[in-house]
Amino acid sequence: KRLVVLVSGAGTNLQALMDACQDPAYGASVVAVGADREGVEGLARAERAGIPTFVRSVKQFTSRGKWDRSLAETVSRFDPDVVVLAGFMKLVGEDFLEAHGGRVVNTHPALCPAFPGTSGPADALAYGVKVTGATLFVVDGGVDTGPIIAQAVVPVEDDDDVASLHERIKVAERTMLVDNVGRMAREGIIITNRKVRFGS
Ligand code: GRF
Repeated sequence: KRLVVLVSGAGTNLQALMDACQDPAYGASVVAVGADREGVEGLARAERAGIPTFVRSVKQFTSRGKWDRSLAETVSRFDPDVVVLAGFMKLVGEDFLEAHGGRVVNTHPALCPAFPGTSGPADALAYGVKVTGATLFVVDGGVDTGPIIAQAVVPVEDDDDVASLHERIKVAERTMLVDNVGRMAREGIIITNRKVRFGS
């Protein structure tokens, strides 16, 4: 199966996926990596692995809608079975979801529906929760609101700062992402009343 991965940053989740794809039993390969900005380590990781890359940044376009359509069309060219938003810090729009919806997944560094948005680890720390984690979900039109595929729980330690907490989350997040994206690629998913199960 064909994975297209979109990144905005370090790309450690992407790296975990690319590493998993080395095993034929995983049943998927990363066929392209896209970003919404130049120069990020995620793109460099893909280039080192010989995987095609592309950049579509919002500022290259005269409107957010045009950016969204260009991103959707570029992703379409790679004919993905699953599109993985792995630390992609932009919301995809209506046209993107029209073209790819149902097979677009995102990972969020908190236990949805708690702490949506771009500062999940900081918000969890500030709230004082004792556990947090990561959520893999099917992207819908909202911010971290889609049907949940999997969650991983990590403890919040007394001496955590945002960086130490986010790093602990990311360790659990990578395993959860790799395990569940692979399973989704191999088995498919069925969504009934928001509830996701594997199968076809
Ligand atoms: C992940 O924790 C992701 O959930 C969050 O940003 C981080 C990206 O990490 N939105 P990386 O770029 O995969 O290393």
